[in-house]
Amino acid sequence: MHVIGGSASTALAERISRELGNAPFGIPFTKRFPDGELYLRVGGRLEGDDVVVVQSTRTDQDLLELLLLEDAVREAGARRTFVVVPYFGYARQDRRFFPGEPVSARTLCRHVELDADAVITVDLHSDQTLSQFSKPAFEASGIPALARLLKERPVDLLVSPDKGGIERAKRMAQLLDRPWFALEKKRIDSDHVELSLPATPISPIAGKQVVLLDDVITTGGTIVEAARLLHRHGAGGVRAACTHGLFLRDAFERIKAVTDEILSTDTLLNPAEKGSVAPDVAQILLREYPS
Ligand code: R5P
Repeated sequence: MHVIGGSASTALAERISRELGNAPFGIPFTKRFPDGELYLRVGGRLEGDDVVVVQSTRTDQDLLELLLLEDAVREAGARRTFVVVPYFGYARQDRRFFPGEPVSARTLCRHVELDADAVITVDLHSDQTLSQFSKPAFEASGIPALARLLKERPVDLLVSPDKGGIERAKRMAQLLDRPWFALEKKRIDSDHVELSLPATPISPIAGKQVVLLDDVITTGGTIVEAARLLHRHGAGGVRAACTHGLFLRDAFERIKAVTDEILSTDTLLNPAEKGSVAPDVAQILLREYPS
């Protein structure tokens, strides 16, 4: 098995190659044509071999690079192409909210799988998105990577900033053997949310080391409000942990100001990237495609 890392996921791709028993690893040669279009070429002897292509699609350029990479790998004669999209862009628009809108997640699934034999992604925003692929598709979880990090830190309590994260918080709570609860969240607009403690009885917050766990941190609005709420209720410390750290604009600095530490996995390049999903992605590849 060969592993090729796109420009958005080079380090993670190399980590995956190591987890696959030091599979040959490479990056494509790329340059820009005078009109700005991307040129790329993959090297190595890929003919008749299985190839893993790793590329998060945070930007439209990342997506285009992934599509070109997949085509290049097929043209190079790969036996099978396994496409790993650690952060799957456009996954939030998973249904038509208003007439005239596209179902962006679905159309991205269709295009990403075109030259793939299987797709692996990590913590998709919605459970339904995986079913939009017509080829084999698998979802790795960012929870084990974050649990590996949190096991080395003081943690008394897990908190999900919204009900959508209940299963995630429960799973982490099980792994760390700690209590958990979810906050009540009302989104005001894309930058602002209102958060409150749930009406149901919850574990005490005062003096506790709390971890706020989310799948993605985007503007940071949710985590900043959640951290402030926990501090108002006497939390002894607050850490923010997420699978996908987008940290738009000044999100990282704003979260840093109200938390003790920010942790994310390596699905996206960011300053909080401390744990890797490589073992979890490799485990799926080895389980599903052992030879
Ligand atoms: C919401 O469903 C997600 O789990 C995140 O809580 C949300 O996307 C975070 O966005 P932001 O950082 O912009 O508040």
